[in-house]
Amino acid sequence: MIKFITESTEYLQGKGFDNPEVGIILGTGLGQLINEIDIIAEASYNHIPNFPTATVEFHKGKLIYGNLEGIKVVVMQGRFHVYEGYTLQDVTFPVRIMEKLGVKTLLVSNAAGAINLDFKKGELMLIDDHINLQGSSPLAFKGVSELGERFADMSAPYDDAINSKFESIATANNITLHKGVYASVVGPQLETRAEYRMLKIIGADAVGMSTVPEIIVANHLGLKAAAVSVLTDECDPDNLKPVDIGEIIAMATKAEPDMITLFKELIKTI
Ligand code: HPA
Repeated sequence: MIKFITESTEYLQGKGFDNPEVGIILGTGLGQLINEIDIIAEASYNHIPNFPTATVEFHKGKLIYGNLEGIKVVVMQGRFHVYEGYTLQDVTFPVRIMEKLGVKTLLVSNAAGAINLDFKKGELMLIDDHINLQGSSPLAFKGVSELGERFADMSAPYDDAINSKFESIATANNITLHKGVYASVVGPQLETRAEYRMLKIIGADAVGMSTVPEIIVANHLGLKAAAVSVLTDECDPDNLKPVDIGEIIAMATKAEPDMITLFKELIKTI
């Protein structure tokens, strides 16, 4: 793994990825943040050595380097999911590359279903803690201890200082920003009513199919990490309607301007 990481990093450095400070993973509902960045360099996932092979849907996946509000950032436009057949090590490989490039802070966004029914679709949730329900760990491989502490601490996986800043920015800009626990499942199927009930009982406020592996690896590498979910549907087991993926995407798009404000304003404080 170390050799692979070095190769990929050197390729990107050769393309001009020069010492970014912040890494950003753009999930559904934050794609337009890219328009706010002065792009200096970019690399398609399928050209970066050792990157997971992009699937057909992901032929557009790119790593972008540039300036956002005066800060050097590296941005993943498109992420890898376990439900596409990637391993957890594949899904999190780009986080290891970002760290090797120089990143100290990782900011992540995603779309999630609201388990806490006080939260409404179209609103945002700051992730305060998580529950890993993906069945394994991105740290479960031979040689992991060469890259960091195998028994990585998870007592505070989301950075308190960043989260406080997100909350102040939300207040100042009249953005509803809930705070809660995100549970990650494999997907790609949505949950059954019984699964939504279980998720509520175990303490989840939102459920989605990403983010947790990336945050685990960020912590493994000692990065500061934070994540925001856009809530795209309300997971009410007693009134469950068939999910309309079009509606999920529409909700994510609707919340995008708020999400962009949060990330742009936060970057200014780093
Ligand atoms: N479950 C899992 N992932 C999701 C959901 C959901 O209800 N909504 C958006 N992503």
